[in-house]
Amino acid sequence: MKLLLICLAFTSLMAEHAPTPPKQDWSFKKPNGTFDRSALQRGFQVYKQVCSTCHSLKYISFRHLKALGLTEAEIKVLASQYQIKDGPNDSGDMFERPGRPSDYIPSPYANDKQARAANNGALPPDQSLIIKAREHGADYVYAILTGFKENPNLKLNPGQYYNEYFPGHAISMAPPLSEGLVIYNDGTKATIDQMARDVTTFLAWASEPEIEQRKRLGFKVLLYLLVMVGLFYATMRRIWSGIK
Ligand code: HEC
Repeated sequence: MKLLLICLAFTSLMAEHAPTPPKQDWSFKKPNGTFDRSALQRGFQVYKQVCSTCHSLKYISFRHLKALGLTEAEIKVLASQYQIKDGPNDSGDMFERPGRPSDYIPSPYANDKQARAANNGALPPDQSLIIKAREHGADYVYAILTGFKENPNLKLNPGQYYNEYFPGHAISMAPPLSEGLVIYNDGTKATIDQMARDVTTFLAWASEPEIEQRKRLGFKVLLYLLVMVGLFYATMRRIWSGIK
């Protein structure tokens, strides 16, 4: 009986536990690594055309996108394509106006309830911090996007799909990517793998937009410390040189 219970507990644990996502080679993971600007721009295109219909990105403003290599003018045009809820105006009503660079990217749903109602009860999580919020960050998001497999024989509810790397394997998101889903401006071929890599790179940037500056500062601090150590050493040698 005890053994049976242990077995049961173990199998349910196994079901909840998804395999560790394979490690990918991300340029931004290296100690002095940076984000590939073209990958960031392609990734934003994938987010905008595909993911943003369900997932918000609420901590990123249009102005932040300058880091992707967009010019002020491009950002202005981009922002103006969005309708932003503003107000209340003098008569107390909310109104919509074209976006400005200082606006944050608007969410696809008015609130979580509406988001759940549109997605079979599941909430598409905000993507601003998803890479930081999940164990295995970028590897996990990439693995989810490329991890939709034929269902071995897991019981799925309507609106659920089998995903190798989602905890429990039953995910309430239809495979969002398909070959050639977007047309990249730079001519890159939009395979599922390419789009998954690009959007993951973009989301990694979005969860730590200041990481490149931080790495650069870290490098400068190290250099400064090294120089100081050298100076102190030289001074010590001088001061003690007369003492035998
Ligand atoms: C049609 C709506 C829809 C679209 C489009 C969509 N998603 Fe999702 N996504 C969802 C929902 C709903 C969930 C929650 C699934 C669950 O909890 O079972 C989800 C979950 C996820 C998760 C897992 C989150 C977690 O909690 O661990 C990731 C990663 C993800 N989406 C990434 C993306 C990316 C990247 C795109 C664009 C390429 C995208 N999604 C497009 C609806 C969508």
